[in-house]
Amino acid sequence: ANPSILILAGDGIGPEVMSEVKKIISWFGDNRGLHFDLSEDLVGGCAYDAHGTPLHDDTMAKAQEVDAVLLGAVGGPKYDALDFSLKPERGLLRLRKEMDLFSNLRPAQCFDALADFSSLKKDIVAGLDIMIVRELTSGVYFGEPRGIHTEGNERVGINTQRYTESEIARVARSAFELARKRGNKVCSMEKANVMESGILWRDVVTEIHAKEYPDVELSHMYADNGAMQLVRNPKQFDVIVTDNLFGDLLSDAAAMLTGSLGMLPSASLGAPMANGRPKALYEPVHGSAPDIAGQGKANPIACILSFAMALRYSFDLGTEADQLEAAVEKVLADGLRTGDLMGPDGGTPVSTSEMGDAIIAALAA
Ligand code: NAI
Ligand code: MG
Repeated sequence: ANPSILILAGDGIGPEVMSEVKKIISWFGDNRGLHFDLSEDLVGGCAYDAHGTPLHDDTMAKAQEVDAVLLGAVGGPKYDALDFSLKPERGLLRLRKEMDLFSNLRPAQCFDALADFSSLKKDIVAGLDIMIVRELTSGVYFGEPRGIHTEGNERVGINTQRYTESEIARVARSAFELARKRGNKVCSMEKANVMESGILWRDVVTEIHAKEYPDVELSHMYADNGAMQLVRNPKQFDVIVTDNLFGDLLSDAAAMLTGSLGMLPSASLGAPMANGRPKALYEPVHGSAPDIAGQGKANPIACILSFAMALRYSFDLGTEADQLEAAVEKVLADGLRTGDLMGPDGGTPVSTSEMGDAIIAALAA
């Protein structure tokens, strides 16, 4: 049977960038004989509109069965007033939680053609290639107790940072495994100076390292210093492993090293399924970008590079992933730019679909 992919394009620019990925999937089918069983469904605001819930149970069940889920983005101002449990983001959080996708891989790679466009000086980012591994299913976004209560005459908002030893151990292992395939260096970030969960995090990472990965170079850094170091000298890092909250912030900071949120892919991996493939969801880091939705302005590259990660991590198609990444590099070197990539040096402005078409032309060449 062909490998199966569930496409959840979502809201805003999600469907716009996903349609470029669908063109690329068709191209691989027509030209390379790589066929996938594709299905499509709703997530986020569009699922709420159709079903009154941001993720229907049937969709959840499908996501559990396929080899990989490709997601666009969810959310939009239309849904801002909804109850917390009905918000589009809850659909995404449910997918991550029920698929148990505990390891979120966010590469920050600087394409040469965009080095001038980074928020930082060219020599600081040129050739940058780091990977942030963010714990994704636990921590303060999920911890109990949570809620808004009234104490005396005022309201109090409560969230709880909670990590178990095994939750820390499994994400640490995924970071060490990844490091062995890259620069063999892991920097673990927490705030052991002020947080109990940070003390445990540092202890467990240190233990796993000593027992199972002594060949990998391990360092520790407080996450606030880590944010500073990412901007001061990002090339000192190879793999960074950190918790859910810090990983959210640090990976957004890393986004600006590379130029645009519109360039950044991600993979979220869980435990291996019966066929040996990890449970997996691939999605761009960016959101639904309501400010540019429906205008053909969205950069599809983050979503396309997310599909490249799917080729590499779910389907063992590393060669095809390399080719797709090279095609992206080529169109950038040729000066093609969606609006978010328009620097002072100009370039050739292109729409979402023109960018997708150019990448396919580069693949074919
Ligand atoms: P956002 O990532 O949607 O947009 C931030 C800025 O980056 C905007 O100016 C947008 O135009 C630009 N941008 C983002 N992706 C782009 C692309 N591919 N091409 C060109 N420009 C791009 O974040 P924001 O504005 O904070 O949130 C908008 C909505 O998206 C909210 O409803 C939020 O909850 C949701 N969201 C969803 C996420 C997801 O689905 N994983 C992640 C982050 C936000
Ligand atoms: Mg974020």
